[in-house]
Amino acid sequence: NPRRTPLIAGNWKMNLDHLQAIAFVQKLAWSLKDARHDFTAVEVAVFPPFTDLRSVQTLVAADKLPLAFGAQDLSEHDSGAYTGEISGAFLAQLECQYVIIGHSERRTLHAETDEQVAAKVVAALRHNLVPIICVGETAADLELHGPSAVPVAQLRAALAGVTRAADIVVAYEPVWAIGSGQAATPEQAEQVAAALRAVLNETLGQDVADKTRILYGGSVKAVNIAGFMREPNVDGALVGGASLDIDEFSGIVRYQK
Ligand code: G3P
Repeated sequence: NPRRTPLIAGNWKMNLDHLQAIAFVQKLAWSLKDARHDFTAVEVAVFPPFTDLRSVQTLVAADKLPLAFGAQDLSEHDSGAYTGEISGAFLAQLECQYVIIGHSERRTLHAETDEQVAAKVVAALRHNLVPIICVGETAADLELHGPSAVPVAQLRAALAGVTRAADIVVAYEPVWAIGSGQAATPEQAEQVAAALRAVLNETLGQDVADKTRILYGGSVKAVNIAGFMREPNVDGALVGGASLDIDEFSGIVRYQK
């Protein structure tokens, strides 16, 4: 779709400290430059831990790297007595463009609810951060409810507080495919992505539905990315493990070549 620039996003999870992050981002930028990557054709973003963001911001600005970056989570609140939390205001100050919200690891390991995800989406938009809203079903959900029901319900819930057209990204990450080496098939990803786009159409209108990028995530590698990118409703990938390996990640970014 000509209205959607593909987005390849690397979710580092809790990996790479700020010194490692600097070295990694430098190498990644060199690798993509060597490959003459056209950054206007495919957008690349990295999602380091909070403690790395200032270093990544400084490096990206100093070397004018064509890399976007963001955080892996944010607080639904803007400031105050919330020990251990990080606000959207802080992330915006650090020139984050994006923020991942509702990753399955937050939902399962930190019991994040649909209501909290919705509040975080509103908080992100309040600070002009583009939320990357993660949805996805477990293997048990898949068996019980079929492929789209849970991701569709999660997206509806996540958008509950969004009342006007907004710049958002949706990431479909089947929980059974995350870190398992067993990716969904491109057809499975497309089926759910199409259902998610229908939700966007219904809740925020066709213009938003046409413009919003829907990513696939879950065991994406250089060897399987092209199949996903051929699907009409899949506009990129949210990459975990493979985003920590320069060759692998730049191979994913260069999926067309
Ligand atoms: O957010 C990306 C992630 O959950 C996928 O992880 O390691 O399967 O690419 P991985």
